[in-house]
Amino acid sequence: MPVDETSLFHLETLDPIRRFTDALAGSCLDPRPPASEDEPHELIARNPDLFTRGGSWPRDVWVTGGLGAVLDSVVVDTGERQELIDLCTILTVLGINDPWVKLKQLTHVLSRSPHHVTIRLGCDLYYRVARRILKCFDGLGEPGDHVVNIRQCNGSDAVELALHAAWNAAREAPGRRRLGTFRGSYHGESLTASLISEHQPRHGSGRLLVESADNVTFFPSPRCAEDGSPDAESLATLDALERDGEEYFAVIIEPVQWRNAVHAVPLEFLRRLRDVCTRKSICLVFDEIHNGFGYTGTISFAEHSGVCPDIAAMSKGLTSGHGSLAIMVAKRDFSEIDGPFAGKSNAADMTSLVAVDAVLDRLLGVEPEDADAIPEWLPDELAAELRVGLLGTAYDRTVALVDSLFLELRRRFPGVVGASTGVGLVRGLVMLDGLGRPSEAVASAVAKQCLANGVYVRQAGTALFVKPSLVLGPAEADLALDGLSRTLAQVTRGREEEAGPA
Ligand SMILES: Cc1ncc(COP(=O)(O)O)c(C=O)c1O
Repeated sequence: MPVDETSLFHLETLDPIRRFTDALAGSCLDPRPPASEDEPHELIARNPDLFTRGGSWPRDVWVTGGLGAVLDSVVVDTGERQELIDLCTILTVLGINDPWVKLKQLTHVLSRSPHHVTIRLGCDLYYRVARRILKCFDGLGEPGDHVVNIRQCNGSDAVELALHAAWNAAREAPGRRRLGTFRGSYHGESLTASLISEHQPRHGSGRLLVESADNVTFFPSPRCAEDGSPDAESLATLDALERDGEEYFAVIIEPVQWRNAVHAVPLEFLRRLRDVCTRKSICLVFDEIHNGFGYTGTISFAEHSGVCPDIAAMSKGLTSGHGSLAIMVAKRDFSEIDGPFAGKSNAADMTSLVAVDAVLDRLLGVEPEDADAIPEWLPDELAAELRVGLLGTAYDRTVALVDSLFLELRRRFPGVVGASTGVGLVRGLVMLDGLGRPSEAVASAVAKQCLANGVYVRQAGTALFVKPSLVLGPAEADLALDGLSRTLAQVTRGREEEAGPA
């Protein structure tokens, strides 16, 4: 199926690269033959012998390739091949196989530049990436107000580092040992992250080492009253911080709580939270792992919201899936980190840093000095996008596609489709049960059934989680509408059959 945006293409189709890939054909370096001789269903049958139990198993639909928002997939049970519309990329903000990121990584790999630089040693790429990321925070204060750590691998690492930096900054105030967090939150799966998340491992013998931390306060998930102002519980949270602020070293909040049916924290609450944290000298941490790096139209959620945290933890989107990396951006007051924190061994991977640099090119446009040096053999559409950046050209259009997709689904299936939640490209669509109540069971069943109907979405509490890449085009959105409609029609029919003849 053609993608709408012709700026997407597979690298092997580029003239300067074709000679190289032709030279690999038939050799053991040829990347085209499958990695295993067994069929997917035979491999899946071996899951219990090979893998730990639970969420890490490869499952019923396999991906063999893809471009942009389209994944080439195989339904394992039937062997049927299908084009799957990826409406929930989680972190591939540029879609699958972005040609520019791959090209920049390829040129790096072909060069003599180091692919790995261990922590004791330096490399100029660190400085370029740090400068470009910090430039995105310049508008949120004075240039130079922020510093960055780019040596984390996962979102959980960046969250933990943020808390460490906040704790460290409060070391002269031994009375400040309390952390505020919110119900509905998820901050990752490390011990620290799960101690401060409402969503934690649910099964088995409970948490590792400790059940809870007695210096963590969970506030209710912030909501609005009908007039748009913070509701009574949220006001009580602000009052509690006003009253007991001297006990807190930090408050951490996810501006869009995706596991909580993709609930967007009201902006007015964030503003007031910022205000009380400033007055009480509490470090405000934004967990921007999901909402940062393009998904809400800007690099930082602070730019989107106008509310600036003291520390932002970011990860998904950074490399658009071309490597594992997480970062922490902090105001200068929170720049002190004690060893051995701050330098994860695997974050010394240079190809991830190359990816961040390339993702910034794609989102914001290339650096002015690079604009005149874009290779002339690059397809015109990609070259044109690189001069402007997708956040300027594609973001509003893609958000509009999601808006109209949701509106149309609600019009067609008013008994199943409830409210639209979230912000920008971090979105939820609430699923209703037969009595019109938001339902986790319906959301879970619909997400599962969507896969068989050619659309990938996830469940997030009572909502479908929709987080498409910026390059989703109208034709793909139409296919997603078809797949979702088939699924929701099946749900509606099932309900009618259950209810029996009228
Ligand atoms: C809001 C939020 N914070 C932190 C994390 C942890 O990120 P990671 O899985 O990379 O450790 C996640 C992961 O989904 C997340 O959604």
